[in-house]
Amino acid sequence: MNILMKLVIATKNQNKVREILPVLEPLGVQKVSTLNDYPEIHNIEETGTTFDENASIKARAVCVHTGLPSLADDSGLEIDALNGEPGVYSARYGGSSLDDTGRNQLVLNKMIHVPDSDRAGRFVCVMALAFPDGRLYTRTGTCEGLITHEPRGTHGFGYDPIFYLEEHRKTMAELPLAEKNRISHRAQALHKIADLLASLPETKT
Ligand code: IMP
Repeated sequence: MNILMKLVIATKNQNKVREILPVLEPLGVQKVSTLNDYPEIHNIEETGTTFDENASIKARAVCVHTGLPSLADDSGLEIDALNGEPGVYSARYGGSSLDDTGRNQLVLNKMIHVPDSDRAGRFVCVMALAFPDGRLYTRTGTCEGLITHEPRGTHGFGYDPIFYLEEHRKTMAELPLAEKNRISHRAQALHKIADLLASLPETKT
Protein backbone atom coordinates (compact mmCIF):
# COMPACT_ATOMS: atom_id res chain seq x y z
CA MET A 1 0.00 0.00 0.00
CA ASN A 2 1.37 3.37 -0.94
CA ILE A 3 1.72 5.79 1.90
CA LEU A 4 1.47 9.53 1.50
CA MET A 5 2.92 11.16 4.52
CA LYS A 6 5.11 13.76 6.00
CA LEU A 7 7.90 12.47 8.18
CA VAL A 8 10.39 14.03 10.58
CA ILE A 9 13.73 12.28 10.82
CA ALA A 10 14.89 12.94 14.37
CA THR A 11 18.51 13.70 13.57
CA LYS A 12 20.72 16.60 12.52
CA ASN A 13 23.15 14.19 10.89
CA GLN A 14 22.96 14.67 7.10
CA ASN A 15 24.72 11.34 6.50
CA LYS A 16 21.86 9.53 8.19
CA VAL A 17 19.34 11.55 6.18
CA ARG A 18 21.16 10.65 2.95
CA GLU A 19 21.02 6.98 3.93
CA ILE A 20 17.34 6.99 4.93
CA LEU A 21 15.71 9.03 2.13
CA PRO A 22 16.42 6.74 -0.83
CA VAL A 23 14.84 3.81 1.04
CA LEU A 24 11.67 5.57 2.22
CA GLU A 25 10.89 7.91 -0.69
CA PRO A 26 9.89 5.13 -3.10
CA LEU A 27 7.24 4.14 -0.54
CA GLY A 28 5.54 7.50 -0.93
CA VAL A 29 7.05 9.19 2.10
CA GLN A 30 7.20 12.83 1.04
CA LYS A 31 7.98 16.14 2.66
CA VAL A 32 10.72 14.90 4.91
CA SER A 33 12.06 17.29 7.52
CA THR A 34 14.84 16.87 10.06
CA LEU A 35 15.77 18.38 13.41
CA ASN A 36 17.57 21.13 11.49
CA ASP A 37 14.07 22.40 10.62
CA TYR A 38 13.15 22.54 14.32
CA PRO A 39 16.00 24.41 16.05
CA GLU A 40 13.78 24.87 19.10
CA ILE A 41 14.09 21.15 19.84
CA HIS A 42 17.20 20.93 21.95
CA ASN A 43 19.09 17.86 23.08
CA ILE A 44 16.55 15.20 23.96
CA GLU A 45 17.96 13.36 26.97
CA GLU A 46 18.63 9.72 26.21
CA THR A 47 17.72 8.43 29.66
CA GLY A 48 16.93 4.85 28.60
CA THR A 49 19.03 1.81 29.41
CA THR A 50 18.42 0.11 26.06
CA PHE A 51 18.68 1.17 22.40
CA ASP A 52 14.96 0.49 22.10
CA GLU A 53 14.11 2.86 24.96
CA ASN A 54 16.34 5.64 23.68
CA ALA A 55 15.09 5.45 20.10
CA SER A 56 11.51 5.44 21.41
CA ILE A 57 12.11 8.44 23.71
CA LYS A 58 13.50 10.45 20.78
CA ALA A 59 10.79 9.45 18.29
CA ARG A 60 7.97 10.17 20.77
CA ALA A 61 9.42 13.53 21.87
CA VAL A 62 9.82 14.77 18.29
CA CYS A 63 6.37 13.46 17.30
CA VAL A 64 4.70 15.21 20.25
CA HIS A 65 6.52 18.46 19.45
CA THR A 66 5.87 18.48 15.71
CA GLY A 67 2.55 16.65 15.51
CA LEU A 68 4.04 14.58 12.67
CA PRO A 69 5.18 10.96 12.35
CA SER A 70 8.78 10.84 13.53
CA LEU A 71 11.59 8.39 12.94
CA ALA A 72 14.50 8.16 15.40
CA ASP A 73 17.39 5.77 15.80
CA ASP A 74 19.79 4.72 18.49
CA SER A 75 22.81 2.58 17.89
CA GLY A 76 26.05 1.32 19.35
CA LEU A 77 28.43 -1.56 19.86
CA GLU A 78 27.82 -4.47 22.26
CA ILE A 79 30.81 -6.61 23.24
CA ASP A 80 30.15 -9.96 24.95
CA ALA A 81 33.44 -10.06 26.87
CA LEU A 82 32.64 -6.60 28.32
CA ASN A 83 29.13 -7.64 29.42
CA GLY A 84 27.53 -5.70 26.57
CA GLU A 85 29.59 -2.53 26.96
CA PRO A 86 29.91 0.09 25.53
CA GLY A 87 26.22 -0.46 24.61
CA VAL A 88 24.01 2.59 24.98
CA TYR A 89 27.08 4.49 26.19
CA SER A 90 28.96 3.91 22.89
CA ALA A 91 29.14 7.61 21.96
CA ARG A 92 30.46 8.69 25.37
CA TYR A 93 32.36 5.56 26.52
CA GLY A 94 35.30 6.52 28.74
CA GLY A 95 34.05 10.09 29.19
CA SER A 96 33.81 13.20 27.07
CA SER A 97 37.59 13.74 26.84
CA LEU A 98 37.99 10.74 24.51
CA ASP A 99 37.58 10.86 20.74
CA ASP A 100 36.85 7.85 18.49
CA THR A 101 40.54 6.83 18.52
CA GLY A 102 40.66 7.06 22.31
CA ARG A 103 37.47 5.03 22.70
CA ASN A 104 38.81 2.32 20.39
CA GLN A 105 42.05 2.19 22.39
CA LEU A 106 40.06 1.94 25.63
CA VAL A 107 38.14 -1.06 24.29
CA LEU A 108 41.35 -2.74 23.07
CA ASN A 109 43.06 -2.15 26.44
CA LYS A 110 40.12 -3.64 28.33
CA MET A 111 40.26 -6.71 26.06
CA ILE A 112 44.01 -7.18 26.02
CA HIS A 113 43.79 -10.59 27.72
CA VAL A 114 40.62 -11.76 25.93
CA PRO A 115 41.38 -14.69 23.55
CA ASP A 116 40.20 -14.64 19.93
CA SER A 117 37.49 -17.17 20.73
CA ASP A 118 35.78 -14.71 23.11
CA ARG A 119 35.97 -11.49 21.09
CA ALA A 120 32.45 -11.50 19.62
CA GLY A 121 30.45 -8.30 19.40
CA ARG A 122 27.73 -6.69 17.36
CA PHE A 123 26.62 -3.32 16.13
CA VAL A 124 22.97 -2.76 17.02
CA CYS A 125 20.57 -0.15 15.66
CA VAL A 126 16.99 0.37 16.76
CA MET A 127 14.76 2.60 14.68
CA ALA A 128 11.56 3.85 16.28
CA LEU A 129 8.62 5.30 14.36
CA ALA A 130 6.09 7.29 16.39
CA PHE A 131 2.70 8.42 15.08
CA PRO A 132 0.62 11.31 16.45
CA ASP A 133 -2.20 8.88 17.34
CA GLY A 134 0.14 7.19 19.84
CA ARG A 135 1.28 4.19 17.79
CA LEU A 136 4.95 3.41 18.25
CA TYR A 137 6.85 0.80 16.29
CA THR A 138 10.46 -0.27 16.79
CA ARG A 139 12.62 -2.40 14.54
CA THR A 140 16.14 -3.70 15.27
CA GLY A 141 19.08 -4.36 12.95
CA THR A 142 22.28 -6.12 14.04
CA CYS A 143 25.64 -6.77 12.45
CA GLU A 144 27.84 -9.49 14.03
CA GLY A 145 31.62 -9.34 14.17
CA LEU A 146 34.79 -9.77 16.21
CA ILE A 147 36.83 -7.17 18.06
CA THR A 148 40.34 -6.93 16.58
CA HIS A 149 43.64 -6.50 18.47
CA GLU A 150 44.48 -3.24 16.72
CA PRO A 151 42.61 -0.63 14.64
CA ARG A 152 42.64 -1.07 10.86
CA GLY A 153 41.10 0.95 8.02
CA THR A 154 40.16 4.56 7.44
CA HIS A 155 36.54 4.52 6.23
CA GLY A 156 33.47 4.97 8.36
CA PHE A 157 33.55 6.28 11.91
CA GLY A 158 33.37 5.29 15.57
CA TYR A 159 34.28 1.69 16.32
CA ASP A 160 34.56 0.65 12.64
CA PRO A 161 38.39 0.21 12.73
CA ILE A 162 38.25 -2.42 15.53
CA PHE A 163 35.21 -4.33 14.21
CA TYR A 164 36.13 -7.33 12.04
CA LEU A 165 33.65 -8.93 9.66
CA GLU A 166 34.60 -12.58 9.18
CA GLU A 167 32.62 -12.94 5.96
CA HIS A 168 34.41 -10.00 4.34
CA ARG A 169 37.81 -10.62 6.02
CA LYS A 170 37.98 -6.89 6.65
CA THR A 171 37.26 -4.46 9.42
CA MET A 172 34.21 -2.28 8.94
CA ALA A 173 36.63 0.63 8.34
CA GLU A 174 38.30 -1.29 5.48
CA LEU A 175 35.00 -1.76 3.65
CA PRO A 176 34.02 0.84 1.06
CA LEU A 177 31.28 3.04 2.49
CA ALA A 178 28.68 1.87 -0.05
CA GLU A 179 29.27 -1.73 1.02
CA LYS A 180 29.07 -0.83 4.71
CA ASN A 181 25.81 1.00 4.11
CA ARG A 182 24.43 -2.09 2.40
CA ILE A 183 25.12 -4.50 5.28
CA SER A 184 25.11 -2.27 8.35
CA HIS A 185 22.91 -2.57 11.42
CA ARG A 186 21.36 0.79 10.40
CA ALA A 187 20.54 -0.47 6.88
CA GLN A 188 18.92 -3.60 8.30
CA ALA A 189 16.76 -1.65 10.78
CA LEU A 190 15.84 0.81 8.04
CA HIS A 191 14.71 -1.90 5.63
CA LYS A 192 12.55 -3.39 8.39
CA ILE A 193 10.97 0.05 8.92
CA ALA A 194 10.38 0.27 5.15
CA ASP A 195 8.67 -3.17 5.22
CA LEU A 196 6.56 -2.00 8.14
CA LEU A 197 5.50 1.17 6.33
CA ALA A 198 4.62 -0.79 3.23
CA SER A 199 2.40 -3.09 5.32
CA LEU A 200 0.49 -0.36 7.16
CA PRO A 201 -2.92 0.71 5.94
CA GLU A 202 -2.72 3.89 3.91
CA THR A 203 -1.61 6.68 6.18
CA LYS A 204 -2.09 10.28 5.10
CA THR A 205 -0.52 13.09 7.09
P1 IMP B 1 24.23 7.23 17.46
O1 IMP B 1 23.14 6.23 17.63
O2 IMP B 1 24.33 7.76 16.07
O3 IMP B 1 24.22 8.28 18.51
O4 IMP B 1 25.61 6.44 17.65
C1 IMP B 1 26.07 6.05 18.91
C2 IMP B 1 27.52 5.64 18.86
O5 IMP B 1 27.60 4.26 18.54
C3 IMP B 1 28.39 6.36 17.86
O6 IMP B 1 28.89 7.55 18.39
C4 IMP B 1 29.50 5.34 17.64
O7 IMP B 1 30.44 5.40 18.68
C5 IMP B 1 28.75 4.01 17.76
N1 IMP B 1 28.29 3.58 16.43
C6 IMP B 1 27.01 3.57 15.97
N2 IMP B 1 26.98 3.10 14.71
C7 IMP B 1 28.25 2.86 14.35
C8 IMP B 1 28.86 2.42 13.14
O8 IMP B 1 28.22 2.17 12.10
N3 IMP B 1 30.20 2.30 13.16
C9 IMP B 1 30.95 2.58 14.26
N4 IMP B 1 30.46 3.02 15.39
C10 IMP B 1 29.10 3.16 15.45
